[in-house]
Amino acid sequence: MRKIGFDFNNMMDYNAGRHGITAGELRAYAPKAGQAFRHIASVLKDSKKRVALSLEWANLPFQDKVSIAAIQKLGEEIAEKYENVVSLGIGGSYLGIKAAQDALQPPYYNDFPALRKGSPRIFFEGNNLDPETLSSLFANLNPKKTFIVVISKSGETTETKAALELAEAWLRKGVGPKFARQIVAVTGPSSGALREKVSAASAKDSLAYRSLPLLEGVGGRFSELNMGLLHLAITGVKIKEVLKGAGAMAKICGQAGLLKNPALLYAVLSVLEFKKKGKPVSIIMPFSEQLKSTADWYIQLLAESTGKKYARKVVLGEGLERWVEDRSRVLNTGRTPVAARGTNDLHSIQQNNIEGRNDKVVTFIRVEKVRRDLKLPESGDFLSGRKLSELLKTAQEGTAWALIREERPNCAISLPELNAYYWGALLFFFEMATAYEGELLGINAFNQPGVESYKNYMFHKLKKPGISKAVAEEIERNPVRKSRRYML
Ligand code: PA5
Repeated sequence: MRKIGFDFNNMMDYNAGRHGITAGELRAYAPKAGQAFRHIASVLKDSKKRVALSLEWANLPFQDKVSIAAIQKLGEEIAEKYENVVSLGIGGSYLGIKAAQDALQPPYYNDFPALRKGSPRIFFEGNNLDPETLSSLFANLNPKKTFIVVISKSGETTETKAALELAEAWLRKGVGPKFARQIVAVTGPSSGALREKVSAASAKDSLAYRSLPLLEGVGGRFSELNMGLLHLAITGVKIKEVLKGAGAMAKICGQAGLLKNPALLYAVLSVLEFKKKGKPVSIIMPFSEQLKSTADWYIQLLAESTGKKYARKVVLGEGLERWVEDRSRVLNTGRTPVAARGTNDLHSIQQNNIEGRNDKVVTFIRVEKVRRDLKLPESGDFLSGRKLSELLKTAQEGTAWALIREERPNCAISLPELNAYYWGALLFFFEMATAYEGELLGINAFNQPGVESYKNYMFHKLKKPGISKAVAEEIERNPVRKSRRYML
């Protein structure tokens, strides 16, 4: 199996000038990197710690084969029976699946039966509250030929809950009282409104609301290799290939030694660029249309994991450690991720990348061997007889070169090809890099307290039972001020 390549040369001073990292800076940072590595390693080797601190995702590549085979079988059954699958979920319960769909299925999969090879069309909903998309979808799908997969770890997320209730009503009307046999719920094992619904419905009819449990200690954005498995199976992807790729990367990114471990090196260089060279923006730019959604997945991974207000405090006790917010240390840290794609965005964001503020690091992702190539007809001009893959590769090299000419740091990840194995490996690389980056920034990368405030506002305004008095008062006492002067 060929290896994924990581090229960090363009983040170093000999290419990026004073905006690059020197060998001396890297050496000086090595003790801190070693500390971060050892702390993560100590958590990963202890199953209790992994679960308690939400790092159980790191064990997903090594899941029990029997459960995987059962998920693969369920997916195949659904695929055989239904023409359409609607996947409901948001954030970590959506972005990984969308990324898998686009990376591992051919472009235009939904549009052409020949590309689907008997697998159902896949539609993504419940990732917004915009009524237009769901209305359009339900007006055009046949409920008798449609299966719903609803994914929500908490089982309480408003977007997913609202979409599910509408989907249930639509199915009930279209197929009658046994509609819930056309729904699988992927949710937390023991709590939440969705789990309660599943338990109540399946007690009456064992085929209604079948469910798959999400594992304890796996946060949404780190859960593609858990919550996304049924989707992989439905679309005919061999789950074990994805896990094999992730497992191989787990070994590589579990190695001590900065120059052996690409996830650690990526995190260290990124943090040095951020802290020492004023680069708070991370642009992730695959030169592959099919990896654009993987870049979108990474946006959530980096933003929710490292965009934190408070420093983390490690509290020790009874053999386990706890990570708590240190309210006395406000950091407001984390790099801002931006997704772009080559070559499309060379005609958009690239102008700013080259001549705007030198506050970014660009990460390219390349695919060395495309599945299907195209050769241009012989025409006598400079494009004559060239392959599109060659043009794409040269455009990426040109983009990196142009950035370097302006001392703009960048790096490149090269996948030998885009398949289940390498895609699983790529995901795992980014997850490990994010874990190390969180550690280097001194924050808890595995929670997302900042997402709660808009939810609390909505719950209070919509009168959801159980909202605390303190939250309600905070919202009422702090309205957004409006002056007519600035309302035109
Ligand atoms: O990373 C996370 O934990 C979040 O982005 C969640 O995935 C997202 O909020 C959806 O939550 P849930 O799966 O509980 O519906």
